[in-house]
Amino acid sequence: MVKVAIMGYGTVGSGVYEIIKENSFEKEALNPIGVKYILDIRDFPDHPEKELFTKDFDDILGDDEVYCVVEAMGGLHPAYEFTKSLLEKGKNVVTSNKELVATYGPELLAIAKEKNVNYLFEASVGGGIPIIKPMCSSLMSNKIEKIIGILNGTTNFILTEMITKNKDFDDALADAQQKGYAERNPAADVEGHDACRKLAILSSLAWGNYVDYKDIVTEGITEITLDDVKYAEKFGYVIKLIGYAEKKDKVFARVSPMLVSKSYPLSGVDDVFNAIVVKGNYLGTSMFYGRGAGKFPTASAIVADVIESVRHLNANKAYLEWKPSEEGYMLDIADSVSSYFVRCDAKKEQIEELFGKVSFADGIKDGELAFITPKMTEGEFTQKIGDLAKSFIRVLEA
Ligand code: HSE
Repeated sequence: MVKVAIMGYGTVGSGVYEIIKENSFEKEALNPIGVKYILDIRDFPDHPEKELFTKDFDDILGDDEVYCVVEAMGGLHPAYEFTKSLLEKGKNVVTSNKELVATYGPELLAIAKEKNVNYLFEASVGGGIPIIKPMCSSLMSNKIEKIIGILNGTTNFILTEMITKNKDFDDALADAQQKGYAERNPAADVEGHDACRKLAILSSLAWGNYVDYKDIVTEGITEITLDDVKYAEKFGYVIKLIGYAEKKDKVFARVSPMLVSKSYPLSGVDDVFNAIVVKGNYLGTSMFYGRGAGKFPTASAIVADVIESVRHLNANKAYLEWKPSEEGYMLDIADSVSSYFVRCDAKKEQIEELFGKVSFADGIKDGELAFITPKMTEGEFTQKIGDLAKSFIRVLEA
């Protein structure tokens, strides 16, 4: 039997335990898998296997029988220090911790490679949706051109409530909190930070060099109003929080609300669901859809990575690798191209003088102009619009 340890017995960690308890995956992993330790600072006196619990990380680190460790603690510290020590000790580590992967991925992957073990993190993006392995392994024959994703379930739920139930942002957020989707402090979700880290991981894997999440321009959904939703509807769009990345000469990545055409498949991805569109040069576009969070969806991706590491006993899986970032690797947002939905108090003639013929929407707010510009670089747009815009939202090109 191959022994596994689980660090963190919260929602995800307990899901991993329950899945492995139910099935040792002997056929799939070519060896039965069993849990030897569970690390948690809390006590679980009523747990049926309470003897598995420890509060001492060294029990896991020092036990040569432990082949693979699931890090389900979340946060950067001590998850980083524990993961690094485990990899250096020659143990495989599997995680759903997007913050840790997006921050320390290059270093941890390099240690894993040097030690001929695996650092696997399928669950860190899209929860239970298979995306990392398909993108890095099944699509190896393609050059990835674009990644467009709804990468955060909480914000997608909030926007869906605004679009379909006419709730304003605060009411929709309160609903998300009441349902347990949004944290009491919802900043990581609603400000786009969670989606940003997921996009950083996908971009790093797709194009080989580390994309630092700090280099991704990130805007959340806190400024989106019901009027924006209504204007979008008039133009034939819905508003979604989109993680967008592409590679031409340089890599460009941005997280922001976008107008998504109702004819584009991502427009129908609602509630807490996530979806990621990947465009390959031979495949064209392909969409991966499913549950991006939650106990068993996330645990299912983690256990699949555990099985993967056991199936390839004592071998590093080469498909997960990224080099350090390079100077000039990322495109400046001013050079990115989009069209823009704008709300302003200007006169139609003034707008047409700046942007040529555009289509206007009216009837939502008296005295206000709303229009969509032609495609242009963001630098050109900001220079043209000056301080005329009350707000703008980028439009996703389908
Ligand atoms: N808070 C995240 C979400 C959980 O809403 O998608 C998964 O990362």
